[in-house]
Amino acid sequence: MSLNKDLKFSTIAVHVGNTADPSTGAIIPPIYATSTYKQDGVNMHKGFDYSRAANPTRERHEKNVAALEGGAYGIAFSTGMAATTALFQQFNSGDHFIISRNTYGGTYRVLDEVFQRHGFEFDFVDTRDLSNVENHIKTNTKMVFIETPTNPLLEITDIKSLSQICKNNNLLLGVDNTFMSPYGQRPLELGADIVMHSSTKFIGGQSDLLGGILVTNSAKLADQLYFIQKSAGATPSAFDCWLLLRSTKTLALRFQRQCDSAFILAKWLEGKNLNRVIYPGLKSFPQYALAKQQQQTPAGQSIFGSIISIDLGSIEYRDSFLSKLKIFSLAESLGGVESLICNPFHMTHGSISVHRKLSMSITEGLIRISVGIEDVIDLKNDLEQAL
Ligand SMILES: Cc1ncc(COP(=O)(O)O)c(C=O)c1O
Repeated sequence: MSLNKDLKFSTIAVHVGNTADPSTGAIIPPIYATSTYKQDGVNMHKGFDYSRAANPTRERHEKNVAALEGGAYGIAFSTGMAATTALFQQFNSGDHFIISRNTYGGTYRVLDEVFQRHGFEFDFVDTRDLSNVENHIKTNTKMVFIETPTNPLLEITDIKSLSQICKNNNLLLGVDNTFMSPYGQRPLELGADIVMHSSTKFIGGQSDLLGGILVTNSAKLADQLYFIQKSAGATPSAFDCWLLLRSTKTLALRFQRQCDSAFILAKWLEGKNLNRVIYPGLKSFPQYALAKQQQQTPAGQSIFGSIISIDLGSIEYRDSFLSKLKIFSLAESLGGVESLICNPFHMTHGSISVHRKLSMSITEGLIRISVGIEDVIDLKNDLEQAL
């Protein structure tokens, strides 16, 4: 069977990169746990010479996620942060970048505390308002890098309109699509040049590995990124790539279920008299219309993600609530089949200054909920008794 872009998402998820092993017919591809490859003579190998440069299991995983994002090339890394780092390593000292202001804390940290030391320049702006991007473009600006929805406030940037601004100004547009997964949002279709994922989250989906991937349709960008992948060497293991190949087969099922449950819980939480209930699927969410239009399943249904943020106000209420939960675990990360809960102020955004966090309304009482695939009635009951 030849596989191409005419296939639907779930068929791509199961089959692209997963064709049977040609040497044995094994339906499930083997894990090529090898660092090196026997060569028939000098410069006579079968396309693989050393696993940092290329590994058959990694190639299968890269093809699989690239196809799900509607991209031609996937470049996989050992973590999401390694993928973000590789993305920026293409550029040079003196280059300038515009970044979504309330991006994941680790992204902010590597840009602000590592790349800035190497002479890169950044402006972190509120990209919900695209005039903020236009006002910060300089002659040395090279790329706009956004997260949408952002972590943990779920602020949304209009990818299509921003891509037009980037094209008009000869800038690349990179999108961290971790929160929506390729099932819920496909930025390349909306005009982005590069998509980044922390595969640790929905792509992996089982909280049992770390991974990252970049996807693009540009052969030029892909060449540069493959070069960085093999040169800097933050590559994932063959075993993790094999787990990721297995994970994406159920991505559509998992993500749809998680989002359906999150929608039910967010609507219910809205009636609970909390300081804030932030969920893009609520009509009270200021960017509800944009979320509805931009975040769509491959079949064209609006989908609002599986992350909800609530504000419990005081530290005392926050701690009493967290201590009573039985099903939700207090833990960093999101997107797995098990429901997790965290306090961004001290956890995911712990490395950001208090002033900066408060200016973005990431308060002590803010709680981020990652809804898993458990029965939604049990999840609701757990939250209810803790509230
Ligand atoms: C939106 C987002 N981007 C990037 C990352 C970094 O990914 P990783 O933890 O796999 O390095 C995270 C991790 O939480 C994230 O939430």
